[in-house]
Amino acid sequence: MSNIEIICGDSLSEIQKISDESVDLIIADPPYNLGKEYGNSSDRQNFDEYLNFAKRWIAESKRVLRSTGTIYVFVGFRMISYVYQILESDLNMNFVNWICWHYTQGIGKTRGFSPRHDDILMFSKSRNYYFNLDAVRVPQKYYRSINNMRGANPGDVWEFSHIHYCNENRQEHPTQKPEGLIERMVLASSAIGGLVLDPFAGSGTTPRVCQQTNRNCTGIEINPDYVSMIKSRLSKPFIGFDSIDPRMERVPNDLNDPQVRKEYLENHVNWFLENHPNQEQQFWLDVVHKYNKANDAPQQTLFEIKYD
Ligand SMILES: C[S@@+](CC[C@H](N)C(=O)[O-])C[C@H]1O[C@@H](n2cnc3c(N)ncnc32)[C@H](O)[C@@H]1O
Repeated sequence: MSNIEIICGDSLSEIQKISDESVDLIIADPPYNLGKEYGNSSDRQNFDEYLNFAKRWIAESKRVLRSTGTIYVFVGFRMISYVYQILESDLNMNFVNWICWHYTQGIGKTRGFSPRHDDILMFSKSRNYYFNLDAVRVPQKYYRSINNMRGANPGDVWEFSHIHYCNENRQEHPTQKPEGLIERMVLASSAIGGLVLDPFAGSGTTPRVCQQTNRNCTGIEINPDYVSMIKSRLSKPFIGFDSIDPRMERVPNDLNDPQVRKEYLENHVNWFLENHPNQEQQFWLDVVHKYNKANDAPQQTLFEIKYD
C-alpha cells in the first residue's frame, strides 16, 4: 500500500514546507512557458520571471532530496540551456542523463522539421545515487547465449506515444504524460516504499504510477480542477498502465530451442509486463504467431505455449 498526498497550492511555497533530505525522487514537469492553457497564467510569464521561478523551485528541490536522490526535469527547448546551468553550475548537482522522449506523432511543420521529441534532464544530488537497472530493462531482440536475456539497458531515447483522445485513460489536461514514461523513472530511481515528489502534478500521472507501484507520493498542483481530476483518477480500478515502450512486448527472435524458449517465456511477463496486464494477451498471440511457424506446430494452443 502506498500513501498518496495531493496538495492544491503553489509548488514553491509547498516545497518549502517539506523537510530537508526526505524525498527519494522528484519528477518535475513544469509549464514550459509556451502559452499553454492550464486555467491560469503559469505558462505565460516573462523570461526573467520564469527563470527566477525555475531557480527557486529547483534549489528547494535539491534541499528536500536525500543524498541518494534523483531529479528528472522536463524542459522546453527555449529554457533547456538555462535549466541545465541551474542544475549543474549553480547547484552543483551531478549530471546523469539527457533523455529524449520520442513521442512519435504531433503537430506538423512545413518550413523546418516537425517536432517529435521532448527533453528530460536527469540529475542526482550526489554521485552515490540510487539506480535499479534490473527494474527497467527491455527485452532483447534476439536470443544469443552471450546476451543477458534478463534484458538490455533501455538507453536514453524513450519511445512512448502521446495518450490519444480515444484512450480510456485520457484526461482533460493539455499536457498529460504517458504512464509508461513516468513508470520507467519511478522504477529506476526509487525503491518500493520510497517517497516521490511531483511539484507540477497536472492530471496526476506520477501519483497514479506511484499508487500502482507501491511508492509514496506527494503531488502539488495549483489548479483545483486538476486536483479533483487527480483524485478521481486515483479512485479508478487498475487494468494496466495506459502506455508501454513497444520493445517491452517484443518476442525475441531465435528462441528455437524448445527448452530455452520455455524458460524464457516463463519469465517474460514477470520481467517486462508486470504493470501491463492489458498487454499480455497480445504478447502471447505474438509468441504463437512467431513460434508455431518456426516449429511447425500449428495445432499448439495459446495455453500450451504458455504453460507447456
Ligand atoms: C506540464 S503540466 C504537468 C502534466 C503532468 N505531468 C501530467 O502528466 O498530467 C504542468 C502543471 O503545472 C501546474 N502549475 C503551474 N504552475 C504551478 C505552480 N506554481 N505550482 C503548482 N502547479 C503549477 C499547471 O496547472 C499544470 O497542470
